[in-house]
Amino acid sequence: MDKIIVRGGKRLEGEVNISTAKNSVLPIIAASILSGDKCIIESAPMLEDVFVISDVLRTISTEIDIDSKTNRILIDSSNIKDCEASSELVKKMRASFLIMGAMISRFGKFRLSLPGGCNIGTRPIDLHLKGFSALGAEVSVGHGYVEAQAKKLIGNKIYLDFPSVGATENIMMAAVMAEGETTIENAAEEPEIEDLAKFLNSMGANIIGAGSGTIHIIGVKNLKGTTHKPIYDRIEAGTFMTAAAITRSKIKINGIDERHLKPVIAKLTEAGVNIKIEGNSMVIDGDRDLKPIDIKTMPYPGFPTDMQSQLSGLLCTVHGTSIITETIFENRFMHASEMKRMGANIKIDGRSAVIEGVDRLTGAEVRATDLRAGAALVLCGLAAEGETEVTDIYHVDRGYVNIEKKLKGLGADIERAKM
Ligand code: EPZ
Repeated sequence: MDKIIVRGGKRLEGEVNISTAKNSVLPIIAASILSGDKCIIESAPMLEDVFVISDVLRTISTEIDIDSKTNRILIDSSNIKDCEASSELVKKMRASFLIMGAMISRFGKFRLSLPGGCNIGTRPIDLHLKGFSALGAEVSVGHGYVEAQAKKLIGNKIYLDFPSVGATENIMMAAVMAEGETTIENAAEEPEIEDLAKFLNSMGANIIGAGSGTIHIIGVKNLKGTTHKPIYDRIEAGTFMTAAAITRSKIKINGIDERHLKPVIAKLTEAGVNIKIEGNSMVIDGDRDLKPIDIKTMPYPGFPTDMQSQLSGLLCTVHGTSIITETIFENRFMHASEMKRMGANIKIDGRSAVIEGVDRLTGAEVRATDLRAGAALVLCGLAAEGETEVTDIYHVDRGYVNIEKKLKGLGADIERAKM
């Protein structure tokens, strides 16, 4: 088990390169098994979650070759035979549930362990299952497993009570070879949905409207292999934007798409950060007198919940009162108690956090409770006086490629060590 040690108070400088998106590459790896041909993902991020979903697919005889030198993943699902994936691995990472839609689409049946909740919430899958049933699958849940089977999937109109990212993705994958047309209403609009649809269409699918609230999927007979480069990771980019702001530094970030960062750019600009976009790069200057702001997390194109912990950390260092409201997950303020160990002044009131900025955070031993909370604590360590140890850093490795190396490259006094 690793920890990250940060000695705070240093300004950052220079440039950092953003990796491609975890939340794009995971559904794309799941979708790659739809054709039975070889699929190649270029510039893939070498992340723990990528390795886990690949191991899940290997338990059903998918051949996956991950080349960490070229960041290339080759997926060959021609020999898939079992219709049940390993339960321990599925419990290890809930996104493995994304293979359900692809498997019932290709084989008409699949059995999978119910994905557990996680620290940030119960993470139900009712909308996924509602979608599968609407397409004609027989879905049963029992003894900790979900089973779905369908002689034939038939297109249908599906309304999502909540614009769930995972449910939108799973239903898209279940519908691509269904008979007739499927419409998903109140679909999630995240850029990763658009990227998945681009990948599926390059396999021969016929998906229109991905990235909007209404997605049309016209079923096709079969799909073929393809090659795809995922979009950049807008949450990693937002995390490094926040690193610049919390250390009051000016840095350049390469590998961004301004369209995907609009809410983060808007809120950091409102706080007083100066941002200049130059194509797929940005120069961000946090060396300013920053102001408190209020944030409410919403489904895309609202402010992303995955950036909430990081901005909470920043606002702990900004004089005045900031209020952050988390509307997506029921338990995503676990970073607050850890930040308080560093001298932060945060009061949790139901779904809101009231933050009073302090003069200085002080280094402390803190624990990563989930992926984004862990990243936020590393950022707080950059700004804190003295040394901060962030333990259980495996949470952070799920979603960030070499976070300490990238921060060190910007001049941070940071290292990884064994716990
Ligand atoms: C995806 O999770 C992301 N993960 C999450 O990123 C992200 O926080 C989340 O979308 C919201 O943007 C991946 O893409 C792998 P949801 P997902 O289904 O699909 C409720 C990170 O840090 N809901 O949009 O699980 C649910 O309870 C991770 O990278 C139902 O009620 O998110 C939650 O309140 C964390 N029923 C809300 O929707 C369902 O069937 C959002 O969940 C499904 C979801």
